[in-house]
Amino acid sequence: MCGIVGYVGGRDAVALILDGLRRLEYRGYDSAGVAVVSGGSLQRRRAAGKLERLAASLADEPLDGDWGIGHTRWATHGQPTEENAHPHQDCTGRIVVVHNGIIENHLELKARLAAAGHRFVTQTDTEVLAHLIESEYEGSLEQAAARALPMVRGVYALVLLHRDEPQTLVAARMGPPLVVGLSDGERFVASDVPALLHHTRDFLFLEDGDVATVRPDRVEVRTLAGATVTRSPQHVAWDAVQAEKGGYRHFMLKEIHEQPRSVRDTLAGRFSLEDGEVLLEELGPAAAGLLEASRIVLLACGTSWHAALVGKFLIEELAGLPAEVDYGSEFRYRTPLVGPGTVVVAISQSGETADTLAAFREAKSRGALPVAICNVRGSMLTREAEGSLLTHAGPEIGVASTKAFTAQLVALALLALHLGRLRGRLSPEKCRAHLSELTRIPHLMEQALHREDAIESLAGSLTRATDYLYLGRGVNYPIALEGALKLKEISYAHAEGYPAGEMKHGPIALVDDTLPVVALCPDGGVYEKMLSNVQEVKARGGRVIAVASSEGGELGALLQGSDDMILTVPSCAELWSPFLTVLPLQMLAYHVALRAGRDVDQPRNLAKSVTVE
Ligand code: M6R
Repeated sequence: MCGIVGYVGGRDAVALILDGLRRLEYRGYDSAGVAVVSGGSLQRRRAAGKLERLAASLADEPLDGDWGIGHTRWATHGQPTEENAHPHQDCTGRIVVVHNGIIENHLELKARLAAAGHRFVTQTDTEVLAHLIESEYEGSLEQAAARALPMVRGVYALVLLHRDEPQTLVAARMGPPLVVGLSDGERFVASDVPALLHHTRDFLFLEDGDVATVRPDRVEVRTLAGATVTRSPQHVAWDAVQAEKGGYRHFMLKEIHEQPRSVRDTLAGRFSLEDGEVLLEELGPAAAGLLEASRIVLLACGTSWHAALVGKFLIEELAGLPAEVDYGSEFRYRTPLVGPGTVVVAISQSGETADTLAAFREAKSRGALPVAICNVRGSMLTREAEGSLLTHAGPEIGVASTKAFTAQLVALALLALHLGRLRGRLSPEKCRAHLSELTRIPHLMEQALHREDAIESLAGSLTRATDYLYLGRGVNYPIALEGALKLKEISYAHAEGYPAGEMKHGPIALVDDTLPVVALCPDGGVYEKMLSNVQEVKARGGRVIAVASSEGGELGALLQGSDDMILTVPSCAELWSPFLTVLPLQMLAYHVALRAGRDVDQPRNLAKSVTVE
């Protein structure tokens, strides 16, 4: 939920830490702070609001330091004020800490520490860490951390420094991710790889229970019990340019336009057209388990949950295997009926969503075969899965997920086709036909993305709309949900996604001439049914924005009102139509939000990775 950066070396720590935080701002952006040390003096600066407020304050009154830590926050405990911004310090002002996560027993620890004389000045859970470490400190920060952290309940990624232990950071992880970047004569710590790609592509990925002592020339990793562990450096393929805006006004817009490439990359090397087969050796030991699967349970949150709904459709259609979809956040608060014979597929862009991970662990503990679809190699999810299918979307920075979604659809399509072949439901010829349609998709997506101008002007005509209804059927019902989610999260307009057939059971009461109804009507088996729903909206004076394969036909005849509009997408096999129908909805959300003057990449109250429950 928050972004952490630490630096040890000889360079300007403030500039390096601010640069890293800027690249992590998608993780949280309600307040920020840094603490740096120079010549034995520890200085701290914090500011409420976005990072630019902190940067402005540092530009007015610079701080000097050649090592230090920084943080960009998404508040959980305590308002996003300057006082509650990290880094937090102990009573002596010598120990400072930045933290991502939640300390569940902070009240109990606080009471104990306060009774022992510690003075608390914030409403955060994190402050207890600074005082707890202080109470355990006997000359070694690493040992103090190792003694203190077993007393902590909850989840954390944290970095500590002590003013009197020069060029030394202590980093610890239990839950949220933490990586150490390795460079010549200097070391970095960060919540995520993109923060450091300008400095290095060599990383150590810390694991739960690790306590790392990071110095400019070495990193020592031990368990909380003090045993030395080896974390081998890994070279990451992502490069720094992928994490830049590349001339686009926003990351979201860039990521929308990257989708043909990311779909192509996620497909590449994973099938043989000649043999009509999908090749998923990367699933490793999980591959064999797929053969015995009697059902699939898909777990995810948010946009990834919408991908899961499409996945259910594909798996049932192509593999004839029952598939269920669950919210990560709901799964473990009932008695989930999963066990041997169930393949549980968790879908997550980040691989660190707390709810998805918790549900995944629950399913695993009940004997299900755990498989991950994930965009981040080495993330918690991929490490806990028996087999992973990586999406190759590249770093997704915009809080509103776009390219990760369509890449997830590719992974699900491949999985469904693979299961279909394994179970004999699809012949090689049928599988080949589906695959060759699928390989056309990136090109068709490029064509669909060329129609942005029409969407931009449509957004201009929607400035007064405050509520929207999105309707879809079959494989496009999840796309209605996704279109509505995109719009609400970045424009703050109220939007509801609904299965079109359910409209008459309630939501139709909302229809009047102020409510734009976005109807997904691509060519396919449910086109006629969608036409009926569009007719029902028109009969009640509603305004329709249709996404369709052509402007003509019955739909064209129906939508001749000056306020109505048809956004066309190229025609393709109905099963793969979500790849195309979602594109105008992403662009619509983007342009409506832009018109409304919203902060597209960093919408209010949200963070990219939700690492708390
Ligand atoms: O990283 P994940 O895919 O697990 O994230 C799940 C959701 O938090 C995420 O999709 C969220 O709904 C996005 N902001 C939607 O655009």
